[in-house]
Amino acid sequence: MRFLTPSGFGMTTQNLSFRAKRGNSKVKRKTIEMKDKRVRSDVGGRFLTAFGMTVSVVLMFLLTSCGKNIDYKGLFFTFNESVNERFAESMEYNEQHGYDVYTGIPDEYEVYAMSDIHVDFSTNNLDRYVSDYLADTMAPPFSLCLGDVINATGHWDYFADHVKPVTDAGRKIYYAVGNHDLYFDQWPEFKSRFHTSTYWFEVQTVSGFKDLYIALDSGNGTLGVDQREWLENILKTKRNEGLRHIVVFTHTHLFKKDSSQGHTSNFNLEETYDLADLFDRYDVSLVLQGHSHSRDLTTFKDVVYLRVDALEDHYPDAYYTILSIGENINYNFVKIN
Ligand SMILES: [Fe+2]
Repeated sequence: MRFLTPSGFGMTTQNLSFRAKRGNSKVKRKTIEMKDKRVRSDVGGRFLTAFGMTVSVVLMFLLTSCGKNIDYKGLFFTFNESVNERFAESMEYNEQHGYDVYTGIPDEYEVYAMSDIHVDFSTNNLDRYVSDYLADTMAPPFSLCLGDVINATGHWDYFADHVKPVTDAGRKIYYAVGNHDLYFDQWPEFKSRFHTSTYWFEVQTVSGFKDLYIALDSGNGTLGVDQREWLENILKTKRNEGLRHIVVFTHTHLFKKDSSQGHTSNFNLEETYDLADLFDRYDVSLVLQGHSHSRDLTTFKDVVYLRVDALEDHYPDAYYTILSIGENINYNFVKIN
Protein backbone atom coordinates (compact mmCIF):
# COMPACT_ATOMS: atom_id res chain seq x y z
CA MET A 1 0.00 0.00 0.00
CA ARG A 2 1.26 3.51 -0.80
CA PHE A 3 0.58 6.63 1.26
CA LEU A 4 0.49 10.17 -0.17
CA THR A 5 0.07 12.87 2.45
CA PRO A 6 -0.58 16.54 1.60
CA SER A 7 1.53 18.86 3.69
CA GLY A 8 2.79 22.47 3.80
CA PHE A 9 -0.45 24.40 3.23
CA GLY A 10 -0.11 28.11 3.89
CA MET A 11 3.55 28.35 2.97
CA THR A 12 4.84 31.03 0.63
CA THR A 13 5.70 28.75 -2.28
CA GLN A 14 3.31 26.66 -4.29
CA ASN A 15 2.17 24.97 -1.12
CA LEU A 16 1.42 21.44 -2.03
CA SER A 17 4.06 18.77 -1.83
CA PHE A 18 3.81 15.07 -1.19
CA ARG A 19 5.63 12.97 1.27
CA ALA A 20 6.18 9.52 -0.15
CA LYS A 21 6.53 6.35 1.80
CA ARG A 22 10.20 5.52 2.22
CA GLY A 23 11.49 3.31 -0.52
CA ASN A 24 9.11 4.36 -3.34
CA SER A 25 11.66 5.93 -5.72
CA LYS A 26 9.12 6.70 -8.51
CA VAL A 27 6.99 8.89 -6.26
CA LYS A 28 10.11 10.52 -4.74
CA ARG A 29 11.41 11.52 -8.18
CA LYS A 30 8.04 12.95 -9.20
CA THR A 31 7.91 14.99 -5.98
CA ILE A 32 11.38 16.42 -6.53
CA GLU A 33 10.56 17.43 -10.13
CA MET A 34 7.38 19.21 -9.03
CA LYS A 35 9.20 21.08 -6.22
CA ASP A 36 11.94 22.13 -8.59
CA LYS A 37 9.42 23.59 -11.08
CA ARG A 38 7.66 25.49 -8.31
CA VAL A 39 10.85 26.90 -6.88
CA ARG A 40 12.02 28.13 -10.30
CA SER A 41 8.67 29.73 -11.02
CA ASP A 42 8.65 31.41 -7.58
CA VAL A 43 12.16 32.84 -8.04
CA GLY A 44 11.07 34.32 -11.39
CA GLY A 45 8.01 35.95 -9.81
CA ARG A 46 10.04 37.46 -6.98
CA PHE A 47 12.61 38.80 -9.39
CA LEU A 48 9.94 40.53 -11.48
CA THR A 49 8.33 42.04 -8.38
CA ALA A 50 11.67 43.32 -7.07
CA PHE A 51 12.56 44.72 -10.52
CA GLY A 52 9.21 46.49 -10.81
CA MET A 53 9.55 48.04 -7.36
CA THR A 54 13.11 49.20 -8.08
CA VAL A 55 12.00 50.86 -11.34
CA SER A 56 9.11 52.59 -9.51
CA VAL A 57 11.38 53.91 -6.76
CA VAL A 58 13.94 55.19 -9.29
CA LEU A 59 11.18 56.89 -11.33
CA MET A 60 9.71 58.55 -8.24
CA PHE A 61 13.16 59.75 -7.21
CA LEU A 62 13.90 61.19 -10.64
CA LEU A 63 10.52 62.87 -10.97
CA THR A 64 10.57 64.40 -7.52
CA SER A 65 14.21 65.45 -7.85
CA CYS A 66 13.75 67.32 -11.10
CA GLY A 67 10.30 68.68 -10.24
CA LYS A 68 10.48 70.19 -6.78
CA ASN A 69 6.91 71.44 -7.07
CA ILE A 70 5.45 68.13 -8.01
CA ASP A 71 2.20 67.27 -6.33
CA TYR A 72 2.18 63.57 -5.41
CA LYS A 73 -1.59 63.46 -5.79
CA GLY A 74 -1.31 65.05 -9.21
CA LEU A 75 1.87 63.19 -10.15
CA PHE A 76 0.65 62.23 -13.58
CA PHE A 77 -1.12 65.47 -14.41
CA THR A 78 0.97 68.56 -13.97
CA PHE A 79 3.92 70.40 -12.46
CA ASN A 80 2.28 73.28 -10.62
CA GLU A 81 3.90 76.46 -9.38
CA SER A 82 4.69 76.23 -5.68
CA VAL A 83 3.00 78.49 -3.17
CA ASN A 84 6.29 80.39 -2.83
CA GLU A 85 6.33 81.06 -6.59
CA ARG A 86 2.69 82.18 -6.59
CA PHE A 87 3.45 84.40 -3.61
CA ALA A 88 6.41 85.99 -5.44
CA GLU A 89 4.25 86.69 -8.50
CA SER A 90 1.49 88.11 -6.31
CA MET A 91 3.93 90.43 -4.56
CA GLU A 92 5.26 91.60 -7.91
CA TYR A 93 1.73 92.60 -8.94
CA ASN A 94 0.97 94.19 -5.54
CA GLU A 95 4.14 96.29 -5.67
CA GLN A 96 3.18 97.63 -9.08
CA HIS A 97 -0.51 98.24 -8.36
CA GLY A 98 -0.69 98.89 -4.62
CA TYR A 99 -3.45 97.95 -2.21
CA ASP A 100 -7.09 99.09 -2.23
CA VAL A 101 -8.45 101.42 0.44
CA TYR A 102 -12.19 102.16 0.74
CA THR A 103 -13.23 105.36 2.46
CA GLY A 104 -16.61 106.73 3.56
CA ILE A 105 -18.04 103.31 4.37
CA PRO A 106 -20.77 103.32 7.08
CA ASP A 107 -19.63 102.34 10.56
CA GLU A 108 -21.73 99.21 10.24
CA TYR A 109 -21.79 97.49 6.90
CA GLU A 110 -22.56 94.09 5.40
CA VAL A 111 -20.05 92.00 3.46
CA TYR A 112 -21.33 89.30 1.10
CA ALA A 113 -19.17 86.18 0.94
CA MET A 114 -19.38 83.04 -1.19
CA SER A 115 -17.20 79.96 -1.53
CA ASP A 116 -16.81 76.73 -3.49
CA ILE A 117 -18.98 77.59 -6.47
CA HIS A 118 -17.37 74.87 -8.65
CA VAL A 119 -18.80 76.23 -11.87
CA ASP A 120 -18.93 73.71 -14.69
CA PHE A 121 -22.09 73.68 -16.80
CA SER A 122 -24.53 75.78 -14.76
CA THR A 123 -24.43 78.96 -12.69
CA ASN A 124 -27.86 79.08 -11.02
CA ASN A 125 -26.59 79.67 -7.47
CA LEU A 126 -23.89 82.06 -8.61
CA ASP A 127 -26.46 84.10 -10.54
CA ARG A 128 -28.64 84.26 -7.43
CA TYR A 129 -25.69 85.48 -5.35
CA VAL A 130 -24.80 88.16 -7.88
CA SER A 131 -28.38 89.34 -8.19
CA ASP A 132 -28.92 89.45 -4.38
CA TYR A 133 -25.68 91.31 -3.85
CA LEU A 134 -26.41 93.88 -6.53
CA ALA A 135 -29.99 94.34 -5.28
CA ASP A 136 -28.63 95.26 -1.85
CA THR A 137 -28.03 98.95 -2.41
CA MET A 138 -26.67 99.37 1.13
CA ALA A 139 -23.91 96.78 0.63
CA PRO A 140 -20.39 98.13 0.22
CA PRO A 141 -18.77 97.99 -3.23
CA PHE A 142 -16.78 94.86 -2.41
CA SER A 143 -17.53 91.23 -1.61
CA LEU A 144 -15.49 88.09 -0.97
CA CYS A 145 -15.04 84.76 -2.71
CA LEU A 146 -13.13 82.08 -0.81
CA GLY A 147 -12.08 79.97 -3.77
CA ASP A 148 -12.93 76.92 -5.88
CA VAL A 149 -14.46 79.24 -8.42
CA ILE A 150 -14.49 76.53 -11.07
CA ASN A 151 -14.61 72.77 -10.85
CA ALA A 152 -12.04 71.95 -13.54
CA THR A 153 -10.35 73.48 -16.54
CA GLY A 154 -12.26 75.19 -19.31
CA HIS A 155 -14.95 77.08 -17.38
CA TRP A 156 -13.24 80.36 -16.54
CA ASP A 157 -14.97 82.36 -19.26
CA TYR A 158 -18.33 80.97 -18.26
CA PHE A 159 -17.72 82.04 -14.66
CA ALA A 160 -16.42 85.46 -15.71
CA ASP A 161 -19.50 86.14 -17.84
CA HIS A 162 -21.74 85.55 -14.83
CA VAL A 163 -19.88 87.79 -12.38
CA LYS A 164 -19.44 90.56 -14.96
CA PRO A 165 -22.60 92.41 -13.71
CA VAL A 166 -20.71 93.03 -10.44
CA THR A 167 -17.86 94.85 -12.14
CA ASP A 168 -20.31 96.55 -14.52
CA ALA A 169 -21.98 97.99 -11.42
CA GLY A 170 -18.64 99.38 -10.21
CA ARG A 171 -18.27 96.76 -7.48
CA LYS A 172 -15.49 94.24 -6.91
CA ILE A 173 -15.13 90.65 -5.77
CA TYR A 174 -11.94 89.78 -3.87
CA TYR A 175 -10.80 86.22 -4.45
CA ALA A 176 -8.83 83.65 -2.47
CA VAL A 177 -7.43 80.89 -4.68
CA GLY A 178 -8.85 77.40 -4.12
CA ASN A 179 -7.32 74.02 -4.84
CA HIS A 180 -9.71 73.52 -7.77
CA ASP A 181 -8.50 76.85 -9.19
CA LEU A 182 -4.97 75.40 -9.28
CA TYR A 183 -5.45 71.84 -10.49
CA PHE A 184 -4.21 71.00 -13.96
CA ASP A 185 -1.93 74.01 -14.26
CA GLN A 186 -4.61 76.67 -13.81
CA TRP A 187 -2.61 79.24 -11.86
CA PRO A 188 -1.89 81.22 -15.07
CA GLU A 189 -5.68 81.43 -15.66
CA PHE A 190 -6.33 82.59 -12.11
CA LYS A 191 -3.48 85.07 -12.28
CA SER A 192 -4.53 86.52 -15.64
CA ARG A 193 -7.99 87.28 -14.24
CA PHE A 194 -7.40 88.15 -10.57
CA HIS A 195 -3.67 89.01 -10.71
CA THR A 196 -2.74 88.18 -7.12
CA SER A 197 -3.60 85.56 -4.50
CA THR A 198 -1.97 87.23 -1.45
CA TYR A 199 -2.89 90.83 -0.67
CA TRP A 200 -4.78 93.07 1.70
CA PHE A 201 -7.31 95.88 1.42
CA GLU A 202 -8.54 98.34 3.99
CA VAL A 203 -11.94 99.79 4.84
CA GLN A 204 -12.20 103.19 6.51
CA THR A 205 -15.59 104.13 7.93
CA VAL A 206 -17.20 107.54 8.21
CA SER A 207 -16.33 107.76 11.91
CA GLY A 208 -12.72 106.75 11.32
CA PHE A 209 -12.82 103.06 12.16
CA LYS A 210 -10.44 100.97 10.11
CA ASP A 211 -10.92 97.31 9.18
CA LEU A 212 -8.20 95.31 7.45
CA TYR A 213 -8.95 92.36 5.13
CA ILE A 214 -6.12 89.96 4.31
CA ALA A 215 -6.34 87.35 1.52
CA LEU A 216 -4.06 84.33 1.95
CA ASP A 217 -3.12 81.72 -0.65
CA SER A 218 -3.74 78.30 0.93
CA GLY A 219 -4.64 76.47 -2.29
CA ASN A 220 -1.99 73.84 -1.56
CA GLY A 221 -2.92 73.51 2.13
CA THR A 222 0.04 75.58 3.29
CA LEU A 223 1.08 79.23 3.29
CA GLY A 224 4.72 78.43 2.64
CA VAL A 225 7.60 80.15 4.39
CA ASP A 226 7.62 83.41 2.42
CA GLN A 227 3.90 84.13 2.72
CA ARG A 228 3.99 83.25 6.42
CA GLU A 229 6.74 85.82 6.96
CA TRP A 230 4.84 88.46 4.93
CA LEU A 231 1.71 87.75 6.98
CA GLU A 232 3.42 88.37 10.29
CA ASN A 233 5.01 91.57 9.00
CA ILE A 234 1.64 92.89 7.80
CA LEU A 235 -0.06 91.98 11.06
CA LYS A 236 2.71 93.63 13.07
CA THR A 237 2.70 96.81 10.98
CA LYS A 238 -1.04 97.25 10.58
CA ARG A 239 -1.94 96.33 14.15
CA ASN A 240 -0.11 99.49 15.23
CA GLU A 241 -2.38 101.62 13.02
CA GLY A 242 -5.35 101.37 15.37
CA LEU A 243 -7.50 98.87 13.51
CA ARG A 244 -10.99 97.92 14.62
CA HIS A 245 -11.05 94.47 12.98
CA ILE A 246 -8.66 92.24 11.09
CA VAL A 247 -10.48 89.76 8.86
CA VAL A 248 -8.40 87.03 7.22
CA PHE A 249 -9.94 85.11 4.31
CA THR A 250 -8.51 82.02 2.65
CA HIS A 251 -9.63 78.78 1.05
CA THR A 252 -8.29 75.89 3.15
CA HIS A 253 -9.72 75.52 6.63
CA LEU A 254 -7.50 75.32 9.67
CA PHE A 255 -9.41 72.94 11.88
CA LYS A 256 -10.70 69.49 11.13
CA LYS A 257 -12.68 68.51 14.17
CA ASP A 258 -14.70 65.55 12.99
CA SER A 259 -15.51 63.42 9.95
CA SER A 260 -18.06 65.88 8.51
CA GLN A 261 -15.44 67.15 6.08
CA GLY A 262 -14.86 63.74 4.53
CA HIS A 263 -11.57 63.46 2.69
CA THR A 264 -10.84 67.19 2.35
CA SER A 265 -7.33 68.10 3.35
CA ASN A 266 -6.38 70.91 5.71
CA PHE A 267 -3.20 72.48 7.09
CA ASN A 268 -0.86 70.15 8.90
CA LEU A 269 -0.97 70.30 12.68
CA GLU A 270 2.28 72.24 13.16
CA GLU A 271 1.14 74.96 10.77
CA THR A 272 -2.30 75.06 12.38
CA TYR A 273 -0.70 75.63 15.80
CA ASP A 274 1.58 78.31 14.40
CA LEU A 275 -1.15 80.23 12.55
CA ALA A 276 -3.64 79.99 15.41
CA ASP A 277 -0.96 81.44 17.69
CA LEU A 278 -0.18 84.20 15.19
CA PHE A 279 -3.86 85.19 14.78
CA ASP A 280 -4.25 85.26 18.55
CA ARG A 281 -1.13 87.38 19.14
CA TYR A 282 -2.22 90.03 16.63
CA ASP A 283 -5.85 90.03 17.75
CA VAL A 284 -7.43 88.90 14.48
CA SER A 285 -11.23 89.12 14.75
CA LEU A 286 -12.26 86.60 12.14
CA VAL A 287 -10.70 83.93 9.90
CA LEU A 288 -12.97 83.01 6.98
CA GLN A 289 -12.42 79.69 5.23
CA GLY A 290 -14.16 77.41 2.71
CA HIS A 291 -12.96 74.16 1.14
CA SER A 292 -14.86 71.55 3.16
CA HIS A 293 -18.36 72.54 1.93
CA SER A 294 -19.61 72.28 5.50
CA ARG A 295 -20.22 75.17 7.88
CA ASP A 296 -18.44 75.46 11.19
CA LEU A 297 -18.18 78.31 13.65
CA THR A 298 -15.39 77.90 16.18
CA THR A 299 -13.79 80.33 18.59
CA PHE A 300 -10.22 79.53 19.56
CA LYS A 301 -8.22 81.90 21.77
CA ASP A 302 -10.76 84.69 21.12
CA VAL A 303 -10.34 84.39 17.34
CA VAL A 304 -13.48 83.34 15.41
CA TYR A 305 -12.95 80.76 12.66
CA LEU A 306 -15.91 80.60 10.29
CA ARG A 307 -15.92 77.89 7.66
CA VAL A 308 -18.65 78.81 5.20
CA ASP A 309 -20.94 76.63 3.10
CA ALA A 310 -20.49 75.83 -0.58
CA LEU A 311 -22.51 77.72 -3.20
CA GLU A 312 -22.16 74.92 -5.75
CA ASP A 313 -25.20 74.13 -7.92
CA HIS A 314 -27.04 70.91 -7.05
CA TYR A 315 -25.44 70.98 -3.60
CA PRO A 316 -28.13 69.94 -1.11
CA ASP A 317 -27.39 72.83 1.29
CA ALA A 318 -26.06 75.72 -0.76
CA TYR A 319 -25.69 78.97 1.16
CA TYR A 320 -23.90 82.25 0.90
CA THR A 321 -22.95 84.32 3.93
CA ILE A 322 -23.49 87.92 4.91
CA LEU A 323 -21.14 89.34 7.55
CA SER A 324 -22.46 92.29 9.55
CA ILE A 325 -19.37 94.27 10.48
CA GLY A 326 -19.68 96.80 13.29
CA GLU A 327 -18.41 96.90 16.82
CA ASN A 328 -18.99 93.13 16.71
CA ILE A 329 -19.24 90.79 13.74
CA ASN A 330 -22.44 88.86 13.16
CA TYR A 331 -23.37 86.32 10.51
CA ASN A 332 -26.38 85.62 8.35
CA PHE A 333 -26.45 82.42 6.30
CA VAL A 334 -28.67 82.69 3.22
CA LYS A 335 -30.00 79.41 1.84
CA ILE A 336 -30.15 79.25 -1.92
CA ASN A 337 -32.04 76.04 -2.60
FE1 LIG B 1 -14.53 73.03 -3.02
